[in-house]
Amino acid sequence: MFMLLIANWKMNFSPVEAVRNFKKFSKLAPQKTSLVIAVPQIALANIAEAKASSQTPLQVAAQNFNFHPNGAYTGEVGIEQINGLADYALIGHSERRIYAYETDKDCARKVAAALSVKIHPILCVGETAHDRDRGQAELVVRAQVAAGLAGVASNRLAEVVVAYEPVWAISGFGSAKIAKPADAAKMLAVVRDEIKVLFGGEKSKQVQILYGGSVNPDNAATYVLKSKADGLLVGNASLNVYSFRDILDKMELLR
Ligand code: 13P
Repeated sequence: MFMLLIANWKMNFSPVEAVRNFKKFSKLAPQKTSLVIAVPQIALANIAEAKASSQTPLQVAAQNFNFHPNGAYTGEVGIEQINGLADYALIGHSERRIYAYETDKDCARKVAAALSVKIHPILCVGETAHDRDRGQAELVVRAQVAAGLAGVASNRLAEVVVAYEPVWAISGFGSAKIAKPADAAKMLAVVRDEIKVLFGGEKSKQVQILYGGSVNPDNAATYVLKSKADGLLVGNASLNVYSFRDILDKMELLR
């Protein structure tokens, strides 16, 4: 299985800028890594068009969606509306759990909705600094994994990705600290173990588990190696094609 490198552009770039950037990223030529760009919702259609008219190896992720297919949900973007525009979708990113009050139950409904239209769900989990200070990191993350994957049939598990991103290590929250690779390793092992508890050892190996949180070209390889991650989810360092390319280059050297 190829490693996954996912860029999360978050709430950056106009549709025109996003397409321009997507074209720059399209020139990256990974040999052993699958590249996914989580683009702003407003640029999804433009990016899908740009993707269709190019030979790009890039895949596209939505950063969010509403689990209702369509209907009276003003301002929302439903799963049916992103169907055909995205290959993957982020679900339960901590910025959505915190700013948009998304619950584990919402995440489970989104995972099911994504699978219903053959979009790969990327379930994001991670403890806050407060959880960690209280010694609850493992408990919180296990609960998020169990709740988020509660409705997944075991024959669909291979389509699911889980990203562990400790909230306190995400650069956008301002007070970000860098997670020690050993801490990341410990928590990725917890995620793997919880999936094993839920689905059994063999099945659990099918899920790609990523690390995210202040990943940059200098620490990317160490996170992958030490935590045995199947890939990385990158925010800030993915806004610029050069820093993202440097991360990709480090990953390509690993396998
Ligand atoms: P940073 O890489 O900016 O810390 O963001 C991580 C993240 O939230 C990716 O989804």
